[in-house]
Amino acid sequence: MLLSDLPDEQIVWMSHGDAITAEPPGFTVTASSPGAPVAALEDRDRAVYGVQFHPEVAHTERGQEVLEKFLYEVCGCPPAWTNTSIIDQAVAEIRAQVGGEKVLCGLSGGVDSAVAAALVHKAVGDQLTCVLVDTGLLRMAEAAQVEETFRRQFHVDLVHVKAGDRFLGALEGVEDPERKRKIIGETFIRVFEEVAREHEDARFLVQGTLYPDIVESGGGENATIKSHHNVGGLPDDLEFELVEPLRRLFKDEVRAVGEELGLPPDIVWRQPFPGPGLAVRIIGAITPERLEILRQADAVVVEEIKRAGLYRQIWQSFAVLPAVRTVGVMGDGRTYEYPIVVRAVTSDDAMTADWARLPDSVLERIASRIINEVPGVNRVAYDITSKPPGTIEWE
Ligand code: XMP
Repeated sequence: MLLSDLPDEQIVWMSHGDAITAEPPGFTVTASSPGAPVAALEDRDRAVYGVQFHPEVAHTERGQEVLEKFLYEVCGCPPAWTNTSIIDQAVAEIRAQVGGEKVLCGLSGGVDSAVAAALVHKAVGDQLTCVLVDTGLLRMAEAAQVEETFRRQFHVDLVHVKAGDRFLGALEGVEDPERKRKIIGETFIRVFEEVAREHEDARFLVQGTLYPDIVESGGGENATIKSHHNVGGLPDDLEFELVEPLRRLFKDEVRAVGEELGLPPDIVWRQPFPGPGLAVRIIGAITPERLEILRQADAVVVEEIKRAGLYRQIWQSFAVLPAVRTVGVMGDGRTYEYPIVVRAVTSDDAMTADWARLPDSVLERIASRIINEVPGVNRVAYDITSKPPGTIEWE
C-alpha cells in the first residue's frame, strides 16, 4: 500500500510553519519541547497522529522508529518490501516490458549501472548486451574489474570499447573544465552510437535511474534521461525505449540488491565518481603522463582509506593533480615536480559536504606512500574546504 492510498485522517501532518500552541479538542499532547509546546499529538480513537519535528532527517534520534511504528501499526502497511521481493518484482516487470527483444546497457563502473545490468541480465539473460566505454579517464583497474565481473562471473555479452586514445586526442590541450565536460560528453555519444549501430536490433536501453533522480526531474511515470551533467546522457534521436529497473529505489536499496545479486563489494560500495572521470581531477590540460600519476596517487588514497575502515563512511575520497610544479628536496638534489591534493568529504547527498577529519596516521601514510611510490610527485596537500563554499570536485 502506498502512503497516498491511505485515508486522509491517517496521515501524519507535519507542519513546517508556525508552532501549534494548544491541541485541538479530542487530542492528547504526547511530546513537547521548550520551543514547541505541542511537538507531537494524537487522537487514538480516530487514529490521527501528528508531529511537529522531522522524524525523517538523519539527526532525529529514533526518527526512523517513529515512522516505522506509524506505518506498521497505525496504517497497517507491513514491510513487505524486501531485497528478494524487489528483485522478483523487477525481474517480472523487465520480462513483461522487454518480451523477446534485445536490450543494450551502458556500464560505467559505478554501482547503479552495474545493478541495473545485473537485474536485466537475471530477467532476460543473453538478450542483454552491455557496453563499457573505456574513456581512458577511469580509475586504476576499474574497467578490468567490470570486465571480470560481467564477462567472466555473470557471462554477460560485453562490448568493451577501448576508446582512451580517442578521448585523449579530443581533449588535447584543453584546460577549461566545461569544455572538457562537453568534449567528453560528445565523444561518449559518438562512441555509443557506433556500438548501437552494430546492434540495430536492440529496441531497449537500460538506464540506472534512481528514485531521487525521478523526484528531482519532476516525477511522473516517464522520467526523461537525467541530462544533468552526466556523461552517458544519450541523444534523443537514438530511438530506444528505456528500461529503468531501479526507478523506485534509493541508493541504499540499490546496494542491498546488488549484494543479493552477487556483485562484488568493490562495485556495490564504490563511492560516486563523476562521469568525466579523472579529466576533472587534473587541473589543466590532460596528458597520458598526468593521468598515470593521478591514477596511481588515487589508488593509494582509496587503498589507505579502505585499510583504515573508513571507505563506506566517507562520501568521496580521491586525489587531484593540479598541473603546476613545486620545489622539493630529495637526497642532495632539488626536485621540481607535481603536487597531489587529497580530497575526502562526508556528505549525505553531495549538495553540501564537510571535509573529512581523517586521522593523522592515515594522512601520513597516504602522503608518504604517494611520495615514495608515485614518480613525479614531491608534495601532498590535504583539502580542508567544505561545500559550500568549495565544491567536492576541483573542477
Ligand atoms: P561538486 O563538485 O559539484 O560535485 O560538489 C557534486 C557531486 O557531483 C559529482 N560531479 C559530477 N558527476 N558529471 C558527473 O556525473 C560531472 O560532470 C560531475 N561533476 C561533479 C561529484 O563527484 C560529486 O559527487
